[in-house]
Amino acid sequence: MVEKAALMLFVFMGLASLAVIRVYGDDSEVVQFSGGSFSEDISKMRALKASLTRRDSVSYPAPPPQVGSSHRVYLATAYGADPTGKSDSTEALLKAMTDAFQGPSNGFLSEGIANLGGARINLEGGNYLVSKPLQLPATGIGNFMIHGGTLRASDDFPTDEYLINLSPTTNSSSSSSSSSQYNYEYITLRDLMLDSNYRGGGISVINSLRISIDNCYIAHFTTNGILVQSGHETYIRDSFLGQHITAGGDSGERNFTGTGINLMGNDNAITDVVVFSAAIGIMVTGQANILSGVHCYNKATGFGGTGIYLKMPGLTQTRIVNSYMDFTGIVAEDPVQLHISSSFFLGDAFILLKSINGVAKGVNIVDNMFSGSSKGIDIVQLDQGNGAFSQIDQVVVDRNVANGMNIKATMARGSVQGNGSSWTVDFSNVLLFPNLIKQVQYSLSTSDGSSFPNHALRNISGNHVVIESNIAVPANVFVTVDQGLSS
Ligand SMILES: *[C@@H]1O[C@H](CO)[C@@H](O)[C@H](O)[C@H]1NC(C)=O
Ligand SMILES: *[C@@H]1O[C@H](CO)[C@@H](O)[C@H](O)[C@H]1NC(C)=O
Ligand SMILES: *[C@@H]1O[C@H](CO)[C@@H](O)[C@H](O)[C@H]1NC(C)=O
Ligand SMILES: *[C@@H]1O[C@H](CO)[C@@H](O)[C@H](O)[C@H]1NC(C)=O
Repeated sequence: MVEKAALMLFVFMGLASLAVIRVYGDDSEVVQFSGGSFSEDISKMRALKASLTRRDSVSYPAPPPQVGSSHRVYLATAYGADPTGKSDSTEALLKAMTDAFQGPSNGFLSEGIANLGGARINLEGGNYLVSKPLQLPATGIGNFMIHGGTLRASDDFPTDEYLINLSPTTNSSSSSSSSSQYNYEYITLRDLMLDSNYRGGGISVINSLRISIDNCYIAHFTTNGILVQSGHETYIRDSFLGQHITAGGDSGERNFTGTGINLMGNDNAITDVVVFSAAIGIMVTGQANILSGVHCYNKATGFGGTGIYLKMPGLTQTRIVNSYMDFTGIVAEDPVQLHISSSFFLGDAFILLKSINGVAKGVNIVDNMFSGSSKGIDIVQLDQGNGAFSQIDQVVVDRNVANGMNIKATMARGSVQGNGSSWTVDFSNVLLFPNLIKQVQYSLSTSDGSSFPNHALRNISGNHVVIESNIAVPANVFVTVDQGLSS
């Protein structure tokens, strides 16, 4: 309210001076007062005031209609689902999904995807026991939501399934009902707690388009918290995933299994998501995905865990930004087009580039912070167990900062002072790739004003840069080297 009063005062002041001002409200409405007539300005003022009032009045959403199906809000309890979680609600919830599926639709989204107009299944804050995957009766719908409650797998839930399964049913007769190349489009799963009860996974999204998973808490999975396979644009936001419910330092951490999110498709986004227990936080086997604001403390690298595993040797095309790798790191196989920046690595967490066919191309690892316990851990490491990296091009590891860990980089500078005819700067501790320097720049400055030595770069073997002069002189030699330039 204080802000709004200040805003109004500001508007009045601008009006009084008849200056040209713009007011940006926090709802992005823009009102512009130009040099027009006074009454014009007054009517714009009224419009602004009305918009502010209107915003207040819509901040409390109308309660959903208390009916079963006629208004496209399908109340779980209206179908007989048990919100206390005592009796099995599977059939009731499946019936609600079937009714939603068969409900009125308004044309199509993508070809063959019926637009349900925003129909939703409201779980009414209940806790429902489920013994079979919740799956739509057939493919080919969109603009639909399931929200607002908890689903818990029963003790006989199939261990290879998911609580919510957006895939074609195994029923072959119904899977032909859609002419779309995608199964579903614009389905929103929001404000859900999914408890897999150590039986299978949370959500699977198969060959679908524009699926939102928003503010979900997924626990007790044994396979994947979320599986995304084929399709594109599944957006996973503001969600929490963990096999075991823990806030870190769990005594059973060594035994964590499963994967928080398994992305087996392209063009997805994971934004502001925490994976707090699982053997692998996020497994990525598709291209053009972005991970932003991800916090992984799923299983420490020291216990065999991985925060983010990029398993697309030869074509990675992944961006990881603004993330927090907390005692668990990133592994990338043969990275080709990989960007990791503005992220924080805590507890000796590091980035491992794993050679499969020896390719590392178009890799930026820049502007990250690393913090460790002075055990001599390198911030970026190579696994060359399958053979050395031999095709290295446009790899930039630079401008990272480290506290209690060893900086590794593909660019470095150093200097040496000496009186003689040979100067050696050893870059082997800092350069990422052994025995690789693509470019050297150096300067030699001597304090002996009477001599004018000839000097040259003589050797770069083993990342040792050797400069020699034809005569002995006292000199400072400054060297910069680069491993990652395009060859
Ligand atoms: C397949 O569909 C039929 C008819 O809708 C249904 O009775 C049957 O249970 C379904 N089978 C499976 C495996 O879902
Ligand atoms: C981890 O698993 C092993 C083998 O199943 C078991 O012996 C051990 O007690 C478990 N540790 C914890 C802390 O649960
Ligand atoms: C450099 O070495 C030469 C030969 O040993 C010596 O004469 C000269 O004083 C030295 N210069 C400096 C600055 O140490
Ligand atoms: C460069 O140094 C390495 C290691 O000391 C040596 O084996 C090699 O012969 C040197 N190369 C040249 C051209 O001097």
